[in-house]
Amino acid sequence: MKVRYLFIIAAAILVLMTSAPIYADNGPHGNYTATTDACAGCHRAHTAQGEELLVANTSYDLCLTCHGAAGSGADTNVADGVYMQRDNVVESPDEGVVNRGLRGGGFLNARMDTSWSFTVTSASVTSSHLWNDSSGVVWGSGSIGSGPGSSIKLSCVSCHDPHGGVGANNSATYRILRSTPAGSGNGTTVVSDENNKNYTIDDGSGKYFGQTYDTTLFSDMAYWCTECHDRYLAPADSGHTDSGDSVFAYRHISVGSGCGCHNLHGGPPPTGNPTYAHKPVSCLTCHVAHGTSATMYGNAGSVPWPDGSTLPSGDDRSALLRVDNRGTCQLCHNK
Ligand code: HEC
Ligand code: HEC
Ligand code: HEC
Ligand code: HEC
Ligand code: HEC
Ligand code: HEC
Repeated sequence: MKVRYLFIIAAAILVLMTSAPIYADNGPHGNYTATTDACAGCHRAHTAQGEELLVANTSYDLCLTCHGAAGSGADTNVADGVYMQRDNVVESPDEGVVNRGLRGGGFLNARMDTSWSFTVTSASVTSSHLWNDSSGVVWGSGSIGSGPGSSIKLSCVSCHDPHGGVGANNSATYRILRSTPAGSGNGTTVVSDENNKNYTIDDGSGKYFGQTYDTTLFSDMAYWCTECHDRYLAPADSGHTDSGDSVFAYRHISVGSGCGCHNLHGGPPPTGNPTYAHKPVSCLTCHVAHGTSATMYGNAGSVPWPDGSTLPSGDDRSALLRVDNRGTCQLCHNK
């Protein structure tokens, strides 16, 4: 009898250990039941104020009623780039550390130690993705030889699907990211979700460089960003292989790992910082997704844009980078 019980317990543990993790979209963004109340948080049938029957004037105003600085419907304050405890749900386990920077940085302010000074401050962002439906050039969009890129409108819902369920059979994707970002063309990339939600960065002193991500989603993310910024996708060896494009001819590796043959063909430099030099690379190695407070001067602040224009320059040239100037390069290569 006892032996049989032990066997059953052991079998149950084995099932728990080997069964796939259950991913779910968070907040009011999916997993809807047949009689869900969620729709009423964002839509009105007869008295809507915005297109698509929204309760707010625009979709981004709607997002900010919960996720903005003065919002109260979500713990993630994306305006100030900080995690707070302010909605009426007590999560278990916690989904972030209160007062710590969000992984995406912020749209107006960010809590980062971009100067590697071991103090975290909240500072105005110097660059961010657009979020209010205004237009900008998606650098590198389109195929080889198609110029610096074309202009599109960008807002929260370009990247995120408010209804979630973006993966196969309505399954969750990381941060409800659309598989085909709006305005990107026809490609699809499903970014796999992480298991436990954690919205804040690992490092309590605000260092954004070296942030860890689930390995699969980290690499998925490079393919996802390049649904819009097509020609920034650069596998190993792209630093010494001409892509054939006149603007984006030679490019730093932006997905996967270096060739591993230790600098024979420009592989991971043997003199590099061992903490980072051999880690897989993705766009999120060097960039945040929302906005950064990094500062730029001298050479770093005067790099021309891909269309050759030189303005804006200085801090405005911070390009969502995680560290001031070219700290991102130095942290890996340690020259
Ligand atoms: C968190 C806010 C939010 C919730 C909750 C929500 N929606 Fe939406 N919904 C939006 C936004 C924002 C848009 C406009 C999206 C855009 O402009 O791309 C939209 C668009 C739509 C559309 C038209 C475009 C499309 O995706 O088909 C339908 C239909 C819709 N919602 C139905 C629903 C239903 C039904 C529910 C409840 C099960 C629901 N929504 C819950 C925010 C929400
Ligand atoms: C009614 C309040 C409300 C509105 C409106 C709302 N959200 Fe959320 N959202 C939440 C809550 C609650 C969560 C759970 C995490 C948290 O507490 O911040 C969340 C989570 C998210 C996440 C993370 C999802 C995940 O699975 O990890 C994203 C991304 C997001 N929201 C984007 C948006 C966007 C874009 C809009 C506008 C179209 C929007 N939200 C509108 C309440 C809201
Ligand atoms: C829906 C299309 C779209 C997606 C997806 C997208 N971007 Fe962008 N990106 C744009 C547009 C449009 C601009 C120019 C306007 C702006 O600054 O937002 C831009 C600008 C940028 C800039 C320059 C910002 C500046 O002010 O200097 C960087 C860096 C960038 N994107 C990186 C990324 C990374 C990294 C990802 C993936 C996490 C990504 N993008 C995903 C559309 C997109
Ligand atoms: C260019 C695409 C893009 C746009 C525009 C965008 N997001 Fe995001 N967002 C992302 C990506 C990618 C992540 C994941 C970042 C990470 O984990 O490093 C993210 C993460 C988030 C999160 C989780 C917290 C965090 O900071 O990591 C929330 C909440 C969110 N976005 C809401 C919004 C809202 C609200 C807007 C508009 C005000 C918006 N996003 C605009 C791509 C975008
Ligand atoms: C090794 C670090 C690194 C990686 C990885 C990286 N970037 Fe960048 N990115 C930079 C730097 C540095 C700049 C500033 C301009 C420069 O020096 O070329 C920049 C600038 C940009 C810009 C602004 C336009 C420009 O070229 O100046 C966009 C858009 C961009 N990156 C997108 C991406 C995307 C998308 C990925 C992933 C496919 C990516 N980056 C991966 C370091 C990186
Ligand atoms: C995550 C660590 C990491 C960061 C950050 C990083 N690099 Fe690299 N770098 C690599 C790896 C790995 C390779 C090898 C790529 C390959 O195998 O093609 C490389 C290759 C290079 C090469 C040689 C290219 C070739 O193919 O000959 C140069 C030059 C270079 N990096 C400069 C930079 C600069 C400048 C920056 C900052 C914008 C930077 N790196 C940021 C890891 C990094």
